[in-house]
Amino acid sequence: MSSPRPNNTVVKVDFSPSPKGATTAHASWRPSLPPIAQRLGWHDSERLFFQVFKNSLQPMSITTLAEGRYIDVNPSFLSLLGYERHQVIGKSSLELGIWKNSAQRAELVRRLKSDGLVRNFETALRGAKDQTLIWLSSADLVDIDGEPCILVISDDITEQRRSEQQLRDVSARLIRAQEEERNRIARELHDGLNQKLALLCVDLQEFGQIHGDLSQQLSAFSLRLQDVSADVHGLSHRLHPSKLDYLGLLPAVKSLCHELSGRRGLQIEFVNNNDVAEFEHLDKELALCAYRVVQEALSNVIKHSGAVTARVQLRCRKQVLYLLVTDSGRGFSVDVAKQKGRLGLISMQERLRLANGKLIIRSRPNRGTQIEARIPLPN
Ligand SMILES: Nc1ncnc2c1ncn2[C@@H]1O[C@H](COP(=O)(O)OP(=O)(O)OP(=O)(O)O)[C@@H](O)[C@H]1O
Ligand SMILES: [Mg+2]
Repeated sequence: MSSPRPNNTVVKVDFSPSPKGATTAHASWRPSLPPIAQRLGWHDSERLFFQVFKNSLQPMSITTLAEGRYIDVNPSFLSLLGYERHQVIGKSSLELGIWKNSAQRAELVRRLKSDGLVRNFETALRGAKDQTLIWLSSADLVDIDGEPCILVISDDITEQRRSEQQLRDVSARLIRAQEEERNRIARELHDGLNQKLALLCVDLQEFGQIHGDLSQQLSAFSLRLQDVSADVHGLSHRLHPSKLDYLGLLPAVKSLCHELSGRRGLQIEFVNNNDVAEFEHLDKELALCAYRVVQEALSNVIKHSGAVTARVQLRCRKQVLYLLVTDSGRGFSVDVAKQKGRLGLISMQERLRLANGKLIIRSRPNRGTQIEARIPLPN
């Protein structure tokens, strides 16, 4: 059995103890050998290796480097892929159609040739019954009877990836359901309650005109009613930003900054680095995602930062939408914040993940916070 040198040439590694003071090429490999291999003779080491190979619950295989022909595979490999031993040995992985994407094998070989080893390489494989398996593999170059071969040890992470996907689907459905519900409540508030309040205002004003002696009290009532109506309107707008639907992302974010400016003494500057037209054909779901991220980031600035100034920046470059919300407040530790189990940052992250985007939080105590969201735009 042999192992690659750092310069990627394959050399024989002798597991037997070397005589004292030996300075052969392979002697320099000895410190990296596990202590057990240093104590065992070559045959014992080999036997130990094949015992591990046979009994390991991790699928293992040895294939030729050139063609990917199977020289040996262990029982876990066979049972997970659903093959009988005779169906595999001597055949190549490409022949058996084991790679779902044959370019992955080419990539593995390329990396092995350049680095001598590959770690945590995620592969999608096809089993005998056409089932898909996801394996996380580590590969090493080994020498079998003078032929360069690949020893692959994998973890079957199919179930893990499936659960992650299911979780992602659930969060996508939850976010969609939440938006639909917000939308419904916003419409009810706007079209139902707010219209009734507006009519009541008009009735009160008319009543005041008829009963001149009560007009002062009535106009005070009317003002309070207008105030309630404005609150309901604001609430409906926050629940579902109708401006986003009618005017698009840019005006909606600008209006949000304007609306929130002045809360707790915070002044919000809005900066747009692009032409308005560039945001016009933005997909509705992406626009809503971007809007919600800015809304949550600003709400956090108001609630937690203590800052007096903040800046919201929108930028479109190379098919990526960048959103930046920067404040000059007290900052926070992201690790500590995550342990609080609150929903704002998680929800931003989740929304962006569903849009294939990314959330970057830059914050340091007393040095302010910058929330950056990157959303790739479809062509
Ligand atoms: N701009 C900011 N400046 C200072 N601290 C912040 C800022 N943004 C977030 N934080 C800190 O991060 C924590 C987590 O934020 P997150 O938005 O997840 O939760 P929250 O705002 O407390 O509650 P909610 O679930 O209602 O959003 C906050 O409690 C706060 O301590
Ligand atoms: Mg929050």
